Amino acid sequence: MARTAVSHPVFARVFERASARMDDAGGTAHRRRLVRGLSGRIVEVGAGNGRNFAHYPAQVTEVLAVEPERRLRASGQRAADAAPVAVTVVDGVAEELPVEDGSVDAVVMSWVLCSVASQRTALAEAYRVLRPGGQLRFFEHVVAAHPGPLRWVQRAVDATIWPVLCGGCHASRDTVSAIHAAGFEISSLDRFRFPDSPLALVGPHVLGAAVRPVAEPAR
Ligand SMILES: C[S@@+](CC[C@H](N)C(=O)[O-])C[C@H]1O[C@@H](n2cnc3c(N)ncnc32)[C@H](O)[C@@H]1O
Repeated sequence: MARTAVSHPVFARVFERASARMDDAGGTAHRRRLVRGLSGRIVEVGAGNGRNFAHYPAQVTEVLAVEPERRLRASGQRAADAAPVAVTVVDGVAEELPVEDGSVDAVVMSWVLCSVASQRTALAEAYRVLRPGGQLRFFEHVVAAHPGPLRWVQRAVDATIWPVLCGGCHASRDTVSAIHAAGFEISSLDRFRFPDSPLALVGPHVLGAAVRPVAEPAR
């Protein structure tokens, strides 16, 4: 299978600065919540410049950070070198994780399911690599919870300029439904705005956990 190409050098440069500003404006607290209580072997998908790495708890024995964008991967490597836990940064895509079946305790995704080429394939991969009972932790901006002007604008920009300007990002994805459809059981879900403005195009966020069930559902 041909690998999805992910090369967004201009976006990568902008994101490195923007992510630091967003973290100062409240993102850090969300990132801490995202990884709180994790332990064992973790795969972080689309790890970017490694803004989550500093927050992994000491009980995490290994993080495999998969990042396809060259510039962000290099920044991620620098963050890995300074991280409090062992982080290995590798090239790869969400749709084809370089990890064995059922071999990890948790998969972490933040602001990635907005950008992957296929949410369905990426989530099937997360499910595949998790051990039964393992968790998907997610922090994602999503489609507005209710029909209205914001949702309309999100869909309009997704059909035009937004993915081009923002490294393949989409504003109007219904990520929680996609997680559910992939066979996960959602065990916690917080919906909030970040930034806390009704006008922010990618303000509606979800942060939570979903479990790969121990007993496989009949398909
Ligand atoms: C908005 S950035 C978020 C980075 C990081 N997760 C964070 O929380 O700051 C989106 C990230 O998704 C990555 N990405 C895009 N398409 C991807 C794919 N198909 N597989 C894995 N990562 C992908 C980008 O390279 C980028 O690092």
